[in-house]
Amino acid sequence: MEKAKPFIKWVGGKGRLLEQFEPYYPDELKRGVIKNYVEPFLGGGAVFFSISEKYEIQNAYLSDLNRDLILTYKVIQNKYSALLDFLEQYQKQYDETQADKRRDLFLVVRRFFNEQRFDINYKKVSDDWAQRAAQFIFLNKTCFNGLFRLNAKGEFNVPFGKYKTASIFRPDSIITASRALRNAEIEDRAYSDCYKHVNAETFVYLDPPYRPITQTSSFTTYMGFEFTDKQQIELRDFFQKLDREKGAKVMLSNSDPTGINPSDTFFERAYQGYNIHKISANRAVNRNGAGRGKISELLITNYTLRVF
Ligand SMILES: C[S@@+](CC[C@H](N)C(=O)[O-])C[C@H]1O[C@@H](n2cnc3c(N)ncnc32)[C@H](O)[C@@H]1O
Repeated sequence: MEKAKPFIKWVGGKGRLLEQFEPYYPDELKRGVIKNYVEPFLGGGAVFFSISEKYEIQNAYLSDLNRDLILTYKVIQNKYSALLDFLEQYQKQYDETQADKRRDLFLVVRRFFNEQRFDINYKKVSDDWAQRAAQFIFLNKTCFNGLFRLNAKGEFNVPFGKYKTASIFRPDSIITASRALRNAEIEDRAYSDCYKHVNAETFVYLDPPYRPITQTSSFTTYMGFEFTDKQQIELRDFFQKLDREKGAKVMLSNSDPTGINPSDTFFERAYQGYNIHKISANRAVNRNGAGRGKISELLITNYTLRVF
C-alpha cells in the first residue's frame, strides 16, 4: 500500500520540505507522548499525512477556510467509492478527448462547478458532495499549476493547464488518504476556531499564507481573503495564546524575508523569545523565473529541540 500523501497539488504545499521539517518536530511527538494533532491551515495536508504515517496520532483536528477543499476531504474520509466512480469517468473522458478539445471539456466542468455553488449545502452531507469533490479534483489536476482562485463573484477562474497527461483517477492515493483521515475531525473554519481542540498534549502546526518576499509575489490572497502583516501579527498573538494558555507544542512556518532583504526582520521582531530556525527550500519566487533558487524558510517553535 502506498503511503498517505496529498491527493491534490496546493500552493504553498510542504511536500518537498518534509525531510527538512522532521528534525524540528517536538520530541514528545516522536516518543509517542503527544497523540493529539491540530493543523488549521490544512491545504494539501502534506505535513499531516506524513506525521500520520510516522507517529501514533489518536486525534487530529484539521481545518481550512476553503469550503470546497474541506468538502472534498470529508468525502474522502467518509464515502470515497462514489468519488472514485466519478474520477474514473473524468479520467476516461479526458484521455479520450483530442488534445485540442480538452480545454472545452475543462471549461464545461468549470462552468458546472461554478453554477452548482449556490445549490450545494456545505453543512449537510448529500449525494451531490461526491460529484463536487470529483470536479474539485478534476479542476485541480487540469488547471494552471493546481491554483485555486475565486473571482469577486465567488467563481473559480483559473485557466486550463494544457497538460499532455493528467492523473485524475488515482485510487491508491484516495484510499490511503481516507485511511489516514479516519480519526480526524475536519471542518471549514477560520484558524482561530482550533483553540478549543488544543491541550497541553497537542502538537499544533500553523502554515498560514506566505508573507510575500518580493513585490510581485501574490501568495497573500486566498479566495479574496487578505493575509497581510496585520493578520500575521494576529496569528502571532494566537501562537502566544496556544503557548501560554494551553501549554501546547506549536510550530509555525513562513518564508524568510531576510534572504531577499536582510533588513526585513519582521518575524524576528514578532516572535522574539521564541526559537526561529532557518531551513532552505527550492521555490520559485516570481513568475518570470528570476530569483529562482534556494529560499530560506522559517520554522518557529515554542519548544527547544534536543541536540541532534
Ligand atoms: C500555505 S497554505 C497551507 C499549505 C499546506 N501546509 C500544504 O502542505 O498544502 C495556507 C492555507 O490556509 C488557508 N487559509 C487562508 N486564510 C485562512 C484563515 N484565516 N483560516 C484558516 N485557513 C486559512 C488557505 O485556504 C490555504 O489552504
